[in-house]
Amino acid sequence: MALLRVAGAVVGSTAVAGAGLTVYAAWEARAYTLREVSVPLLPAGHAPLRVLHLSDIHMTPAQTRKQDWLRSLGDLEPDLVVSTGDSLAHPDAVPVVVGALGSLLSVPGVFVFGSNDYYSPTLRNPIRYLLPDDGRRHIDKPQLPWPDLQMRFLEAGWVDLTNRFGTVYVGGTTFAFAGVDDPHLGRDELPAVTGRADDDADVRLGVAHAPYLRVLDQFARDGYDAIFTGHTHGGQVCLPGVGALTTNCDLDRARAKGLHRHPAHSLPGDPGSSWLHVSAGIGTSPYARIRVACRPEATLLTLTSRG
Ligand SMILES: [Fe+2]
Repeated sequence: MALLRVAGAVVGSTAVAGAGLTVYAAWEARAYTLREVSVPLLPAGHAPLRVLHLSDIHMTPAQTRKQDWLRSLGDLEPDLVVSTGDSLAHPDAVPVVVGALGSLLSVPGVFVFGSNDYYSPTLRNPIRYLLPDDGRRHIDKPQLPWPDLQMRFLEAGWVDLTNRFGTVYVGGTTFAFAGVDDPHLGRDELPAVTGRADDDADVRLGVAHAPYLRVLDQFARDGYDAIFTGHTHGGQVCLPGVGALTTNCDLDRARAKGLHRHPAHSLPGDPGSSWLHVSAGIGTSPYARIRVACRPEATLLTLTSRG
């Protein structure tokens, strides 16, 4: 009988701890955070510029707290916005995203799309988010209205970097971009954007939704100063002392989020290297709105002068 009582107490406390962790994880998924970093990318003597990196918004119309927070980011008055995709998570999300971006759409911007802009989210076992990528692409799901979002971004003057180059002028500063469609879906067409980055530009940036090594390697080799990506959600559920359990791509877990260097290991000769910024993203799948030790984030990068 005593043994049964002990077993019952253990089961009871485990259930309470599990429920507590679930409540916490649901809270953290809504604890929107602005992360700020500096990176030396500008020519010597250039005044600092501020770039707002948004990724993985995964918006639904009901997520009003997220919309309010996004709208507040306009107060930062950045010089440039980089959106690395997965903005949508609902068929009616396009006007909601546009409304939440608000004044940010008046700022020069660039964008690529991710798999969750193209296809509706699906109910999956949350454990799958903790495991390495299983390679399934879920492209049999209904499409989301990404062409509408593309049109709204283009109307705002943002530059579409889907398998193409782009140039953005911020005041008197020239940004040369190369971008690819989502590598997680295998839609990246690297030959379309391969070649030496524009040496006449003040800053050269590569942009992709998912930080697959083949894309990072090519951008690094071609001389891009920095690469902006999202997709990983920073691991979404991280363990203290361990960090991210997965990046959901072939990037190592140590670089699941934040600012790092990327030497192009896999290529012969002088590999070159770039800064790599991986956003942990603002949202999650609507079917797994949990985060642990990995706050939902936007990043304000202050570009400073090299040397
Ligand atoms: Fe995402």
